[in-house]
Amino acid sequence: MTGTPSDVADAPIPASTGRPADAKLVVDNVTVEYQTRKGTVHAVTDVSLDVPRGTTLALVGESGCGKSSLGRALLQLPRPTSGRVVVDGTDLSGLSGSALKRARKSIQMVFQDPISSLNPRRKVRDIVAEGLQIQGTGGDKAEMRRRVDATMEAVGLDPASAGDRRPSEFSGGQCQRIALARALVLEPEVLVCDEPVSALDVSVQAQILNLLEDMKERFHLTMVFISHDLSVVHNIADRVAVMYLGTVCEVADTAALYRAPAHPYTMLLISSAPTLGGTLADTLGESPITATSSELPSPLDPPTGCRFRTRCPRATEICAAERPPLTVIAPGHQVACHHPLEENR
Ligand SMILES: Nc1ncnc2c1ncn2[C@@H]1O[C@H](COP(=O)(O)OP(=O)(O)O)[C@@H](O)[C@H]1O
Ligand SMILES: [Mg+2]
Repeated sequence: MTGTPSDVADAPIPASTGRPADAKLVVDNVTVEYQTRKGTVHAVTDVSLDVPRGTTLALVGESGCGKSSLGRALLQLPRPTSGRVVVDGTDLSGLSGSALKRARKSIQMVFQDPISSLNPRRKVRDIVAEGLQIQGTGGDKAEMRRRVDATMEAVGLDPASAGDRRPSEFSGGQCQRIALARALVLEPEVLVCDEPVSALDVSVQAQILNLLEDMKERFHLTMVFISHDLSVVHNIADRVAVMYLGTVCEVADTAALYRAPAHPYTMLLISSAPTLGGTLADTLGESPITATSSELPSPLDPPTGCRFRTRCPRATEICAAERPPLTVIAPGHQVACHHPLEENR
């Protein structure tokens, strides 16, 4: 079984690129911009990431930093403004029409806000069957029913009692199970989960996180797990990519990121992550970083150079002049910062 953090750490990393050789999902220089009346929203800028087969990459960062935009761009919903998304060697950005439709089967998403992402007028069984109908791969009626029922059972929904009901009759946690069944019925290889537990009560969060772990094993999934909360991804992610205002500022194996964060923004996030007994920063034994401003700058007019510099206590002239490239600082650990926190290593 692949996918433990140590496997990831041991994966061969070509020295020239710092990228693992066996990536299931490759994100290459992806940019997402929205044209609005106020101007261009720079939601995601030049993001490159790899997700090795069978592993989970968490995308974390505060609200508005472009996580959902990047997640949707992975599925080409909509197509990114520029850049490539490659799933198992197939470049989705080069496909259109029926070829894109077929390729989409391999990458599915559980969208943020389970309740509004489910059509309230449809029965649960029809919602789960939708992907099979669109793909035309569900077989005859009996076969489609068998696949829908099996997927509902896998996520802990009883097809007999739940299949004919509508989403409004279910709790948030149950709706998340329906959304998960809808994504899994196509047996995708990559699953993108956008804030899958953020809207749920803490007790239900644990159930859904456990379910995601089970589904990952059962369906041999490679996962992208989006969350604004670092403490949620701690147990589920093999690697973590920290995003700030549309850019990736640090990527590392989960244990290394918590043990030795190198970007001041990562340190800030860790310092403010709510955990049971105090903050993760306390367990790190590090003094927390305090941002010089709590305002996230507008993605309509992001800061030049390093986008975090307007809030960073370590910022100097070079931070305004040059965008720091993501640089390998240890095996599997990359940071984009002119003044990384060396003392943590
Ligand atoms: N369809 C859209 N049109 C214009 N701006 C958008 C659209 N979707 C998102 N944005 C903006 O893009 C930025 C990133 O949003 P989003 O990807 O939802 O971030 P996150 O998921 O991290 O909260 C935000 O400033 C948001 O307001
Ligand atoms: Mg979002």
